[in-house]
Amino acid sequence: MTAQLNPRGDVAVLVPAAGAGVRLGPGAPKALRLLAGEPLLVHAVRRIAAAPSVHTIVVAAPAADVESVRAMLTPVAPVTVVPGGAERQASVAAALAAVPAGPEIVLVHDAARALTPPDLVESVAAAVRDGHDAVIPVLPVVDTIKEVDAAEQVLGTVDRSALRAVQTPQGFRRSVLDAAHEAAGDPLTDDAGLVEKQGVPVVCVPGSELALKITRPFDLALAEHLLTLT
Ligand code: CTP
Ligand code: MG
Repeated sequence: MTAQLNPRGDVAVLVPAAGAGVRLGPGAPKALRLLAGEPLLVHAVRRIAAAPSVHTIVVAAPAADVESVRAMLTPVAPVTVVPGGAERQASVAAALAAVPAGPEIVLVHDAARALTPPDLVESVAAAVRDGHDAVIPVLPVVDTIKEVDAAEQVLGTVDRSALRAVQTPQGFRRSVLDAAHEAAGDPLTDDAGLVEKQGVPVVCVPGSELALKITRPFDLALAEHLLTLT
């Protein structure tokens, strides 16, 4: 059954899904790889569509797969599918350009974070709605972090209490994300980084363990297990 999006919602979610998935090993582009029999992108879009504030979803797909991704997502939710770019930042820019007039909050969410709960989409959007121009979900860093030199010699121990691991969806007032992408120089892997360069304050909200980024085969195995628990 196709989910209905909320025509009165104020949130557009961009889903960069055009990456190759090199770290996952040989196979289809990562967003199209199967998790419990369904592509990662289907898992991701189903959860985004379940968030009540979502008005629009724009997916940036691998250029060769735009038609098949459109067909694959039609039974899941109404989505716009555009061809992505060579870098994640270009994929996000392509998706951003396809957002219709209306939503004033834009979230950017990796397809690779396929198990992200709808609640996290809502909490990031709510923080933007409450007046923050840029919002990122974060988790505390659990490992001890060392700084090393090129020879792997330890230079020092970083104060972990001041560090956060950053997830997606990252949320922005639409005008702020538009301006950051217009001004963007070298590609970054994170949209909040572009906004920081504009001098815009970025605030943190609690992330979710379920929003892990499926990057390596271990993560896929972990996600497979997590699905059996939820
Ligand atoms: N992405 C994208 N366009 C690119 C590169 C990445 O839309 N040119 C997307 C990926 O599809 C993914 C998200 O950005 O959903 C986060 O990127 P990452 O986890 O690095 O995925 P890949 O680039 O596919 O993986 P790898 O770096 O291992 O090749
Ligand atoms: Mg990548």
